[in-house]
Amino acid sequence: MAKNDRANFGSKIGVILASAGSAVGLGNIWRFPYETGNNGGAAFILIYLGCVFILGLPIMVSEFLIGRRSRANTAGAYRVLAPRTQWKWVGRMGVLTGFLILSYYSVVAGWTLEYVVEAGTNSFAGKQPSDFINSFNSFSANPWRPLIWLILFLVGTHLIIIKGVEKGIEKSSKIMMPALFILIIILMVCSVTLPGAGAGIEFLLKPDFSKVTGSVFLSAMGQAFFSLSLGMGCLSTYASYFGKDTSLTKTAFSVGIIDTMVAILAGFIIFPAAFSVGIEPDHGPSLIFITLPNVFQQAFSGVPLLAYIFSVMFYVLLAVAALTSTISMHEVVTAYLHEEFKFTRKRAATLVTISCIVLGIFCSLSLGPTKSITLFGLNTFDLFDYVTAKIMLPLGGFFVSIFVGWYLDKNIVKAEITNNGTLKVNIYKIIIFILRYIAPVAIAIIFINELGILK
Ligand code: TRP
Repeated sequence: MAKNDRANFGSKIGVILASAGSAVGLGNIWRFPYETGNNGGAAFILIYLGCVFILGLPIMVSEFLIGRRSRANTAGAYRVLAPRTQWKWVGRMGVLTGFLILSYYSVVAGWTLEYVVEAGTNSFAGKQPSDFINSFNSFSANPWRPLIWLILFLVGTHLIIIKGVEKGIEKSSKIMMPALFILIIILMVCSVTLPGAGAGIEFLLKPDFSKVTGSVFLSAMGQAFFSLSLGMGCLSTYASYFGKDTSLTKTAFSVGIIDTMVAILAGFIIFPAAFSVGIEPDHGPSLIFITLPNVFQQAFSGVPLLAYIFSVMFYVLLAVAALTSTISMHEVVTAYLHEEFKFTRKRAATLVTISCIVLGIFCSLSLGPTKSITLFGLNTFDLFDYVTAKIMLPLGGFFVSIFVGWYLDKNIVKAEITNNGTLKVNIYKIIIFILRYIAPVAIAIIFINELGILK
């Protein structure tokens, strides 16, 4: 395999921003709030935080070291590090997971474009909360509009992917991430000062443990993996472009903190706003699309120009955050096809884009015209979400922790985590302990517990 023609990220901050760009996306701003709403609020958030810091970060370090050591796509990585074994199936499962997530994720990413246009044409002005519910429902059930946005979004992702790693991925993350962060803070301040916001804040801060069940644990774990981009070799693919002097533990910690802050802040935008206008917190996937337009209308009701500017900015940045995430998933599948099957990058990318458009169309239609077609009581969209986030990603994380904790040569693990002994990593032993004993056991228990409920 030609090692030297692989691209690299240009700078350390580029590494962090590209990884954070992958992690921060619709998972934080769209999925985290609705999962929190569905699972009862504060208690879910506490379990989620436990999953991020105890399971997520050590697994992130593991994915980083697998990628950087092997300098290969996720399936190739296992071929390099564990030749002639069945470990390659973990990588292959990751590629499949990425492909499935990308398909339904792009549907929601497409919705953000619709909202960019609605905000841009000032069509939120003067609307009531019930109007936002109606207009979202009629939009998502429309057979054509969401498909057009879905296709546009995937084509946009495609164009950046074929520009290559440094130019496409690193540059777009460097500008947009900080801008998104600032806007989120402004919006949070607006939201918590709305009349009646207190109930939403309480929902986020006052845990009610009587609502905690096995499925709350599974949802929290799935959300942690989803939000951190873990369990499918996404960050290992990015780490294959990392430089030798990148500290894997520090990068993982930074990404974990940034990702968690954005999710929590998003919660503090959505729930105070939802309670303020009387929208139920368990409204599901449409939650942010019906609560947020209200925030803009109400918080800036005296200054329509500000309402306009902030809503356009917000949806543009949300779309970009989604874009930096779709890029990272697309890259996993593209790098796999490019390196394992020797397609040119362009051809590999085209194949991925077209197949995701096709699957995405099924997911999108399943929210409207083909709603009645279900499996296990879930439409295609929800089924993709359930199977990937709650089964495939945790399973991927399980195998990654076994691979690095038990299979891989300890000298390799240590050399990667300490950059060949040049870094002092105090938490090295803790990371290994978690990977060996805590993570696999915890994931297995949460799984087995929930499979019983699944019937
Ligand atoms: N983490 C991203 C988000 O929160 C989505 C994402 C990108 C992802 N790459 C991934 C999820 C890999 C799971 C696995 O929006």
